[in-house]
Amino acid sequence: MNPQAVHVRAGERVYRVLVGTGLLAGLGEMLLPVVGKSARKILIVLDDNLPELCVQACRSSVEAAGFDVTLATFSASESNKRLAAVERLLERTAMSRLDRNDVIVALGGGITGDVAGLVAAMYKRGVRVIQCPTTLLAMVDASVGGKTGVNLLVDGALLKNYSGAFHQPELVVASMDTLDSLPQRQFRAGLAECIKHAMISADWGDGDLWEWTEARLDSILDREPETLTELVARNVAVKARLVEADERETLASGGRSLLNLGHTFAHAIETLPGVFPDGDAGRTSLLHGEAVALGLIAASEAAVFAKFADRSILDRVRSVVSRAGLPTTVRGLPPAKEILTRMAQDKKAIAGTMRLILPVELGRSRVVESPPIDAVLAGIDAIDRR
Ligand code: GLY
Repeated sequence: MNPQAVHVRAGERVYRVLVGTGLLAGLGEMLLPVVGKSARKILIVLDDNLPELCVQACRSSVEAAGFDVTLATFSASESNKRLAAVERLLERTAMSRLDRNDVIVALGGGITGDVAGLVAAMYKRGVRVIQCPTTLLAMVDASVGGKTGVNLLVDGALLKNYSGAFHQPELVVASMDTLDSLPQRQFRAGLAECIKHAMISADWGDGDLWEWTEARLDSILDREPETLTELVARNVAVKARLVEADERETLASGGRSLLNLGHTFAHAIETLPGVFPDGDAGRTSLLHGEAVALGLIAASEAAVFAKFADRSILDRVRSVVSRAGLPTTVRGLPPAKEILTRMAQDKKAIAGTMRLILPVELGRSRVVESPPIDAVLAGIDAIDRR
């Protein structure tokens, strides 16, 4: 079956996101028309946890297309998502003698894509990057839209994605078979971003994504290939429309910033030490997508409390999050007021004013400047604690 192609228009440029199965084996052929004859070398930055089969498929196909390939492994974790890792990879790129016409391929999850993208943005002041996401989260979110970046560590606190650059890819290749080895917990974490997209999609080209996601959740969780392809293609299309409308996230009325639904709550919670999901995960830190799922519940309750939305939203969001196997209960959450203080320091706050994205009906959300504090506290308290 031919891959589905979603087009993303970013300024003057248009690039494609290809969604299908078995695509990495044809990566070399796909690259040729995109990067032209001027590129000779390809540096593949890859997550050191990727299955050998996936790496070999990618490498062989790029070599067979005539490129000179170097692999650069990267240990993908939030704590390693730092400028030091970017510097090491930049030096590796220089050792491989890439010139300005050459290309970096990012192969891995969102962290790998963000770091490799930043390396591409900086190396010789910018070389082209191809994103090959291998997690659901990276497919539907991180690989599309050109945000690259790393975390900063300030006074012991991890400031997520506080430093980076916009650097749009030339092509994104999302091959569903790379998800085969993805642990179910990581898969579910990616689903949180899909639930988020479904909560904003109605104004961005997909009026029925919420209902579709709710109805297909079981086949999504079973990773039924056609359903997965449709899930990824529809989610990418929603993100593409938002990026096209507001590439640099400057639209005050809410363009790309709508993608931050649930994220101000999530960032405040996921960077706290000692907060763990309840259930099988044991004492492991929350994954980003798990924190986003909690943030979606909190944002829904805040919207209901402030009378922006009907209570049925909260019930349906909570039910989908829980059916997706995402946590609704956490251990070790500090009092709501402490979380509120951290939320006020979020990098998306402007001139000290908190901005939240809150749902108004299923499929529609909007920007709320300075939301009522008691609604935000009620939102935090909607996250069950143990
Ligand atoms: N992940 C949010 C954005 O790309 O804008």
